[in-house]
Amino acid sequence: MSSGTLGSGNALAMAVLNAIQNPVILVDAAGHIAFANWEAEAFFGASASHLARYRVSTFIPFGSPLLALIDQVRERKAPVNEYRVDLSSPRLGQDKLVDLYVAPVLSEPGSVVVVFQERSMADKIDRQLTHRAAARSVTGLASMLAHEIKNPLSGIRGAAQLLETSVEDEDRALTRLICDETDRIVSLVDRMEVFSDERPVDRAALNIHSVLDHVKAIAKAGFARNIKIVESYDPSLPPVYANRDQLVQVFLNLIKNAAEAVGDKVDGEIQLTTAYRPGIRLSVAGSREKISLPLEFCVHDNGPGVPSDLLPHLFDPFITTKTNGSGLGLALVAKIIGGHGGIVECDSQASRTTFRVLMPVSKDIAQDDRYPAQSTGSN
Ligand SMILES: Nc1ncnc2c1ncn2[C@@H]1O[C@H](COP(=O)(O)OP(=O)(O)OP(=O)(O)O)[C@@H](O)[C@H]1O
Ligand SMILES: [Mg+2]
Repeated sequence: MSSGTLGSGNALAMAVLNAIQNPVILVDAAGHIAFANWEAEAFFGASASHLARYRVSTFIPFGSPLLALIDQVRERKAPVNEYRVDLSSPRLGQDKLVDLYVAPVLSEPGSVVVVFQERSMADKIDRQLTHRAAARSVTGLASMLAHEIKNPLSGIRGAAQLLETSVEDEDRALTRLICDETDRIVSLVDRMEVFSDERPVDRAALNIHSVLDHVKAIAKAGFARNIKIVESYDPSLPPVYANRDQLVQVFLNLIKNAAEAVGDKVDGEIQLTTAYRPGIRLSVAGSREKISLPLEFCVHDNGPGVPSDLLPHLFDPFITTKTNGSGLGLALVAKIIGGHGGIVECDSQASRTTFRVLMPVSKDIAQDDRYPAQSTGSN
């Protein structure tokens, strides 16, 4: 029935439905999308009259729980809700995680109303928390690789070096190649070994700005020699309770990525910011407790941005777009920050990419009167 068939006397009902900021559709007994409000048109990327020509199954990924849900509601003649349903598809786009509210329209047998609620921030953060699991999954692999690959590799390398002394000149290039490649693999395995290191680390109350200054100095002396790095710090930030070496590693990885993204762009710039944001409280899946992560440290760059297909897996190990990248940089960042009870997330658009590290303050600092839980910090 698309927009019109609600009847002309129902202009108010139409206006109400269109004012709702959630997609709402009516699926009739034949499975057609008989009505779609404005939000639903935007959600499906088609006009209500276009939608009305097709069955709902045309727009929803095959096998989606929504179709089963509609049948279930028709049968039971009672509303059913389902949460966190993934409707991602080439047509609807990525990251379409929604809550579904499906109810029968009793005056129109077989018709059901579907309201979609797009899940956003809370779920993004949930997903960030799962990066910790991703980092953990490398752990076992790393220790296995250390044993099973490094030892035989040193044998291979030794044999190649022995051969080098007895082969003709033209074959020497080949023995060199064997040595160079084994060295490369050993250094990769060395980087992965960090993941299997589960020893508790020493932590102390640190001034994050001294950590960032140190990392900036390293960057300026090397990979970011020609890139402008600007700072915008909140000088009153309370200390962060962390392991200094690990934090240096985190910000080195983030700044190195930023520098690689900026490349030799003329107005390329990396920005480091710190802020106190006591408002950020997160629910942790499986727990009623909310954690507060008021310390915010960001690395921004104005490079081309993270390719959108990479975003959902960005912190997984071995995700890389670089010819010589190992894809372990961000996985390590996620592991270290997770180990400190914080989270790391990424916002990326062309010319503005932000990696945001959120950390808790240590307990004794949290009780310090200078940092009341409800202050607004500096922003
Ligand atoms: N600031 C950024 N801008 C754009 N893309 C980025 C940025 N940071 C990371 N990426 C993307 O994320 C991928 C993964 O980064 P990660 O640091 O984990 O690995 P890598 O940099 O490719 O390799 P490695 O860090 O091991 O040298 C990169 O290959 C790049 O495509
Ligand atoms: Mg990297």
